This record gives sequence, C-alpha cells and structure tokens, in this order.
Amino acid sequence: MSSNQMHQINIRVIHSKLISETLKKEIISLCNRAYEEDMEPLFETFIDATHLLGYSDGVLVSHALWVTRYLQAGTDPIMHTAYIEAVATDSNYRNRGFAASLMKHLIGEIQDYELAALSPFSVEYYGRLGWEIWHGPLFIRTHDELLTSPNNEEVMIFRLPKTPALDLNAPLSAEWRAGELW
Ligand SMILES: CC(C)(COP(=O)(O)OP(=O)(O)OC[C@H]1O[C@@H](n2cnc3c(N)ncnc32)[C@H](O)[C@@H]1OP(=O)(O)O)[C@@H](O)C(=O)NCCC(=O)NCCS
Repeated sequence: MSSNQMHQINIRVIHSKLISETLKKEIISLCNRAYEEDMEPLFETFIDATHLLGYSDGVLVSHALWVTRYLQAGTDPIMHTAYIEAVATDSNYRNRGFAASLMKHLIGEIQDYELAALSPFSVEYYGRLGWEIWHGPLFIRTHDELLTSPNNEEVMIFRLPKTPALDLNAPLSAEWRAGELW
C-alpha cells in the first residue's frame, strides 16, 4: 500500500438536524478524547451547525464544524460568516493531514459566505492553510454595548470569493452567543 492510500480520508458533510443520536454521541466522544475535556455542553450551544466527518477505513477519526455568525470589521456592513469549531483528530490518526484535508474541503463548502473565521489553537498551523490573523482589537456585540475581548484571544480569518476588502487592523466584532464567545 502506498503512503497515499494509507493516509486516505473520506469526508462526509452533514447538517446537525440530520445527525442521529448515535452519530452525535460518536462525534462528541471523538472530540472529548481529542480535547481531553467534556465537549458536550459546548456542543449544545452549536445549534444549526454543519459537520465535516472524516473517515479512515470506515472509522470516524476526524471532525470539524461550522456555525453561522455575524462578524463586523469596524463599522463596515456585517458579514455573513462561517465560524469553524471543534476541529479534532483522534490521537491515533494524527499527523496524516486529516484535519488539513477537512479544512480544505470545508472552504469549498462555504463559498457563499462572506467570510470564514475561527479561534486558532496554532496560528502557524492555520497560516499554512491560508488563514490570516486578525490584528485589530476584538469585541463582542450585545444589544446595547461592545464588550472588549481579552488580549490573549486570537481570531483568524479566511477570505472567500464574497469577502469584501478588509483592514485586518480594524476592530472586529461578533455577536454575543452562549458558550465560547470566540
Ligand atoms: C490539532 C489537530 C486537530 C490536528 O489534527 P491532524 O489531523 O493531526 O492535523 P494535520 O495532520 O492536518 O496536521 C498536523 C500538524 O499539526 C501540528 N500540530 C498539532 N497540534 C498542534 C499544536 N497544538 N500546536 C501547533 N501545531 C500542532 C502537528 O505538529 C503537525 O505538524 P506538521 O504538519 O508540521 O507535521 C489534532 O492534533 C487535535 O485533535 N488536537 C486536539 C484538539 C485541538 O487542539 N483542536 C484544534 C482546535 S482549533
């Protein structure tokens, strides 16, 4: 078997509304093992998510999802944004490019959005995949105020065909949400 075949991943894209309880448990179990924490409470906040499932020889080994958020650079029009979460690969299947394959596939799925964004575990890792760090200050919009995000919070963006011209040094805000704000 060539190394290419050994590292093959089959990707399935499925909306959270169509996911069975069994599959949901399988996804959460994969993410719990990968992150070494209970991801279930956070998962409950991802309503209306689209999951990418990576299978190796029929086994679920890799995962990512996106939810829709509304990011705004300065006072520019709000951008319909695909916000990526829960990128995970089973520890026995890491360093085979599976997460990278999922992320590349995901970009193809979100071409109608105006922006993609995520909070990176490694700026270097996503930088290699074409993501750019947002340099400006980060804020969360509530109905009546802008909450300053802590300085250690990082956000990266990916430009899509519908992404307008962006100033990466401008303030960037997202709507408040339950769970993790970024
Ligand atoms: C991060 C993760 C999804 C990568 O999955 P993967 O399928 O092994 O990813 P890939 O094969 O595409 O890439 C592996 C590369 O990521 C690097 N990497 C993995 N974890 C890293 C970390 N915490 N910091 C920096 N780089 C890291 C590896 O060193 C490897 O680098 P190389 O290509 O130079 O050898 C996986 O390690 C994981 O599930 N980690 C725990 C959960 C997590 O942190 N998720 C990310 C949240 S944004």
